[in-house]
Amino acid sequence: MHRLDLINKLILKNNYKTYLEIGVSDGHTFDKILATNKIGVDPDCDVYKISWNGKGDVRCLTSDSFFEELDKDIKFDIIFIDGLHLSDQVFRDIKNSLLHLNENGIIVVHDCSPSQKENATTYNNYGIWNGTVYIGYIEASLTYKLDYSTVNTDFGCGLIRYKNIDLNSEKVNISDDWNYFNDNRESLLNLISVNEFENIYLK
Ligand SMILES: C[S@@+](CC[C@H](N)C(=O)[O-])C[C@H]1O[C@@H](n2cnc3c(N)ncnc32)[C@H](O)[C@@H]1O
Repeated sequence: MHRLDLINKLILKNNYKTYLEIGVSDGHTFDKILATNKIGVDPDCDVYKISWNGKGDVRCLTSDSFFEELDKDIKFDIIFIDGLHLSDQVFRDIKNSLLHLNENGIIVVHDCSPSQKENATTYNNYGIWNGTVYIGYIEASLTYKLDYSTVNTDFGCGLIRYKNIDLNSEKVNISDDWNYFNDNRESLLNLISVNEFENIYLK
């Protein structure tokens, strides 16, 4: 299942209206999202606005700047995190997203289950780059004791349900050793199949 289908199924099932996408690129996910109110954030928004003639509300900002400027009372039903693929950034994107998520809302994080070490680098390899998203995602989930599962599809789609987080929680760090992650992938990610996703989240 592609991330677009997964997100749209969650939107239809929960009657979600408001959507935030961090990292839009050319908008091939953003433009097909079924929510009525959509905001995108990408510092390189020219790719969407100029090259692809995108018409949606995509703001030319980093996710950090976007959240810094965002009124604290603005909340979204569903937030898709697919911006800078580095662990510390993903940790911050999850934390900031939880502060702007509605109570029945959900966060979807792309690239949580890289299949190969070569794609899980701290630099952009300009090929399939899953980066170190998985580290930031697992660390945020453990730090804030989140209700999370990772659908084993499209490089791993992490699902985080709303939780009122304690910002003073001491950060949990995990090893960045690839073999440790790969050997413990199922338990570290709470990995679930597409079938399980449909049974747990869509029924
Ligand atoms: C993998 S692409 C996004 C793909 C898109 N979400 C999709 O589903 O097709 C990652 C995007 O994140 C953007 N990005 C990089 N750093 C960012 C940051 N600090 N905040 C938000 N977006 C960022 C890049 O410019 C790039 O367009």
